[in-house]
Amino acid sequence: MMNRKKNEFDLSRYLKERRDIINGFLTKILVQCNMEKELTKAMKHSVMAGGKRLRPVLCLAAAEACSGDSAYALPGACAIEMIHTYSLIHDDLPAMDNDDLRRGKPTCHKQFSEATAILAGDGLLTHGFLILSRPELFFETFPEKKVLLDIIAIISDAAGVNGMVEGQMMDMQSELLPDKNLEYLKTMHLMKTGKMIMASVAAGAVSIGAGEKELDALMTYAEKTGLAFQVTDDILNIEGDPEIMGKAKGSDAVNHKLTFPGLIGLEESKKYAEKLVNDAVKALEIFKKDGIPLKAIAQYILQRQK
Ligand code: IPE
Ligand code: IPE
Ligand code: MG
Ligand code: MG
Repeated sequence: MMNRKKNEFDLSRYLKERRDIINGFLTKILVQCNMEKELTKAMKHSVMAGGKRLRPVLCLAAAEACSGDSAYALPGACAIEMIHTYSLIHDDLPAMDNDDLRRGKPTCHKQFSEATAILAGDGLLTHGFLILSRPELFFETFPEKKVLLDIIAIISDAAGVNGMVEGQMMDMQSELLPDKNLEYLKTMHLMKTGKMIMASVAAGAVSIGAGEKELDALMTYAEKTGLAFQVTDDILNIEGDPEIMGKAKGSDAVNHKLTFPGLIGLEESKKYAEKLVNDAVKALEIFKKDGIPLKAIAQYILQRQK
């Protein structure tokens, strides 16, 4: 820190400041539920287990890139993190990836029960949409209703059958796919991970009334970044340190998952992730200095260890 040049962008500080804000609101949202109940305890266990908060940070950073007040992006950011956490709880279930560790803690179904984990996921998904439709219960600053309705459409489109849920289905079906091909893999990654990352960026930009040109550039950025993020997730499943990641490695191979390293090899996957990040960064040119945080986040994806 001491040697850091004066004008150099400090990504870890940027991430920490925004993570703290998001964690503050997520805590407030959960505390407003009845914390005596087993269901809310299970929801809190997974939400507050210590995720990177990449999606909500992207949401705030997208608003900032468009020179907007990122406070308006907070309802979308928190809703997305709750919906993302629900997807992780369900992803870890025995019927899906059957994982025991998530965010450095026992998975929700291990800590509670399988049925409770299913319901905690349902609770988080549903509550995410309450936050967006009744933001005044949780936030002082929020977009007007018409804009909120747009954000609800963006997020539900990305989380449901047009996005993450279908991506998870494709992921499951890939285990038995006779012809494992690149086109299927790219679509699957776009759906299961890319769409929620694109929605995070879009929600942030829409929250502050971004224009079409800005949105187009941000969508190119987010599509490339989202795919790069899942390619590195595949790589970390082979090379990562479970202690640092807070989740097991090696499960993709055991479950015969279709992944980038599995299909094109580790080295090619790394090169591909790098190319995607370079393309993502190029799309940010129009934002000039305001795009620096988004650029740094995309580049961090290549070095991430968790
Ligand atoms: C894990 O997401 C699941 C994927 C879509 C790759 P993250 O790596 O963002 O997990 P958290 O939120 O930090 O725990
Ligand atoms: C998870 O994908 C994607 C979701 C939509 C939850 P993975 O199954 O590859 O992610 P990890 O490795 O368990 O986090
Ligand atoms: Mg999975
Ligand atoms: Mg998984």
